[in-house]
Amino acid sequence: MNVNRRCFLLGSAGAAGLTWAQSAEQIQTAVIGTGNRGSYLLRGILDQAGAKAVALCDIKPDRLEKAAAAAARDNPATYADWRKIIDRNDVQAVFIATPPHLHSEMAIAALKAGKHVFCEKPIGVTAAQVRELVQVARASNRVFVAGQQMRSYKQLSEAVRKIREGAIGEVIMVKAQRHATADLPHDGSSADWYFDVAKSGGYLIEQSVHNLDLCNWVIGAHPLRACGFGGALLYKNDPAGRTIFDCSLLTYEYPNGVKLSFTQNVFHPRSLPSGGQYVYVYGTKGAVDLISAATMYPLGAGGAPSVLAQKQEEYQHAHIAAFYDCVNKGSQNPADIVIGATAALTSILGHEAMSKEKVVNWSDLGVKL
Ligand SMILES: NC(=O)c1ccc[n+]([C@@H]2O[C@H](COP(=O)([O-])OP(=O)(O)OC[C@H]3O[C@@H](n4cnc5c(N)ncnc54)[C@H](O)[C@@H]3O)[C@@H](O)[C@H]2O)c1
Repeated sequence: MNVNRRCFLLGSAGAAGLTWAQSAEQIQTAVIGTGNRGSYLLRGILDQAGAKAVALCDIKPDRLEKAAAAAARDNPATYADWRKIIDRNDVQAVFIATPPHLHSEMAIAALKAGKHVFCEKPIGVTAAQVRELVQVARASNRVFVAGQQMRSYKQLSEAVRKIREGAIGEVIMVKAQRHATADLPHDGSSADWYFDVAKSGGYLIEQSVHNLDLCNWVIGAHPLRACGFGGALLYKNDPAGRTIFDCSLLTYEYPNGVKLSFTQNVFHPRSLPSGGQYVYVYGTKGAVDLISAATMYPLGAGGAPSVLAQKQEEYQHAHIAAFYDCVNKGSQNPADIVIGATAALTSILGHEAMSKEKVVNWSDLGVKL
């Protein structure tokens, strides 16, 4: 049994120096990074009957205070130094929502200290960061969930399952784009890390990791190689010192010759048609527009479109609930270390191909999954 896929609680409580009574009641939870995403995750944690927010950490006092006020019901302790949270034996679960370059180091420390980890995406911005985290998560008997929350969407899961079961024949090609967001505000609250490629990884790694994960999921594999071009075409050195691209144009090749064409940019005017994001999955019997309607369009004349998966009510904190189910009940992990690592590495592969301007092989990344 892969403990990261089928997770558990009972055996782990004692090992982490926790009392059974504590873990049987509410999972003592900490959040590291209480910015935009961390605050959202905190709301999700507070929405779980089986969780208590006991500790919060951020280096920005205003964010920390705001988060502490939002979690006043649980009266969490607050810290500027994340290692203080790792040192607390009573903390059973840690949510990590700091800038991406810090994820791997923090997740590794938390896992080594016996904590269950919910780590925001991307789980790393370099292959080395991902490699180290994979090794530690594999060796750990704790739950690790990556913040690839699309994996917990019910409609999407059903559509992907049907495609994988052959609803459109064999998947032969995917065309996907993420033109959904504008360049981040240059004076915004994340501008102190976002435009530095070493910290965010750039748009492909930080944002398109969701879209590329969806492509991997529906194809049922990771890419074998990638090539393409990117650059800062509009926002040249804007803001000053910018090292991230504003667009990516990539081709990935998967096993059995399956191809993925992916583009991402932050200068698609809202009013220009065909904006936003889509994932078109082409099979031998027809194609599906996966994101917007999960509708299948058969090949050939006369075939009527059919809905592969109906719209369903989605619980906005489903991924967080799944994390606690994993910890408490040993439920199936929707986004384990292999899924999180594969998603991150797929975007890192694309980034390397663009940076080196050559074909880069998956095996060049040197991460065993
Ligand atoms: N799953 C999703 O859909 C989703 C959505 C948005 C963001 N995210 C991810 O969440 C992470 C955070 O993004 P954000 O938009 O919240 O950014 P943000 O800038 O709003 O928040 C990051 C926070 O981390 C804090 N921080 C930085 N260094 C720290 C340290 N050493 N110790 C403690 N705190 C530290 C910052 O002060 C800031 O408050 C990113 O990895 C991002 O990719 C995921």
